[in-house]
Amino acid sequence: MNRFARVTTLAAALLSASLISGTASAQLATAAQPSAAPATAPAQARKANIVIIGTGGTIAGAGASAINTAAYQSAVVPVDKIIASVPEVSKVANVKGEQIFQIGSESFNNERLLKLGKRVSELLKQPDVDGIVITHGTDTIEETAYFLNLTLKSDKPVVVVGSMRPGTALGADGALNLYDAVLVASNPASKGKGTLVVLNDEIHTGRDVTKSNTFKAETFRSQFGPLGYVVEGRSLFYRLPARPHTLQTEWDIDKIDKLPEVAVVYAYGNVNPASIDAAVKNGAKAIIYAATGNGSVGDYMVEPLKAARAKGVQIVRASRTGSGVVVRNAEQPDDKYDWIVTDDQLPQKARILMALALTQTSDPKALQQVFWKY
Ligand code: DGL
Repeated sequence: MNRFARVTTLAAALLSASLISGTASAQLATAAQPSAAPATAPAQARKANIVIIGTGGTIAGAGASAINTAAYQSAVVPVDKIIASVPEVSKVANVKGEQIFQIGSESFNNERLLKLGKRVSELLKQPDVDGIVITHGTDTIEETAYFLNLTLKSDKPVVVVGSMRPGTALGADGALNLYDAVLVASNPASKGKGTLVVLNDEIHTGRDVTKSNTFKAETFRSQFGPLGYVVEGRSLFYRLPARPHTLQTEWDIDKIDKLPEVAVVYAYGNVNPASIDAAVKNGAKAIIYAATGNGSVGDYMVEPLKAARAKGVQIVRASRTGSGVVVRNAEQPDDKYDWIVTDDQLPQKARILMALALTQTSDPKALQQVFWKY
């Protein structure tokens, strides 16, 4: 039997074992019943109808043994089996599973992103659908969630969820993350807050959240903190997204069939100017330059970037630091070079925003306003 088959067989055994022993349900069932929702949330007349769309990732992963928390096979457990392994989910909502992909999220690309977005949009239009949960690999949750936050035209809750350990591992986090995600998606208080990301007891806005650690459960962080918590069955919001999203933006997923090519070039000591030329040759309409510090550009990189601009490619100075904002005309004369700077968007987020912005305009001044608005 090959390794993959052995892993899947063991995984199925471990998953059914947890089902039989009911460890997951025992832990959850004995927890205090969810207390009444905060007074601000309207009383719920019925259980919400939630569609859980499976795309793969670790939350659908399986390891060869319970001690494999970081070495495992990602994207092998079907979404219906994941839902069945957390019976508490069906106690808080009417859920239906749908498998759109079975991939590690590092394998997302524009085509798959558009396909997912269009399917979510289609489901949100159905009057009997109250909310959507998307199970997703954690590597690129931040890009998918930002994209949906900017392009979905609905105020219904959409929650992206993943896990850092497979369901077969000691200390697996996927079951509670999924339960919490369904709770948040079912809560009327989650409406109108844009696309949310729920993991590790926290509710983040898809705009701000990023994965900050390769293996730890508390890997997701937002520069300005989470919007709130999920604890003992309650979704607790303390902040609201400050930037326009979903119904407040100019992009509609249903009207976008292709995203312009936008490249990210990572800067470092001795970065090769050929990386800029390669991006231009590959047809990039914009280059997000993940620069050092406050968007600083090495002296030997200024001319290659100016040459790319002269060929009509938009140049965006971003920062590889992971937080802060890039100040226009500080490290470089952006007005003179006709370049753009990010606000606080990380390079991988700036790529998503620039691709969307380029579907509407190629005017650098208008593009700059997009970074300061969204
Ligand atoms: N292959 C990675 C992904 O699908 C695993 C990480 C995870 O899902 O937690 O994003």
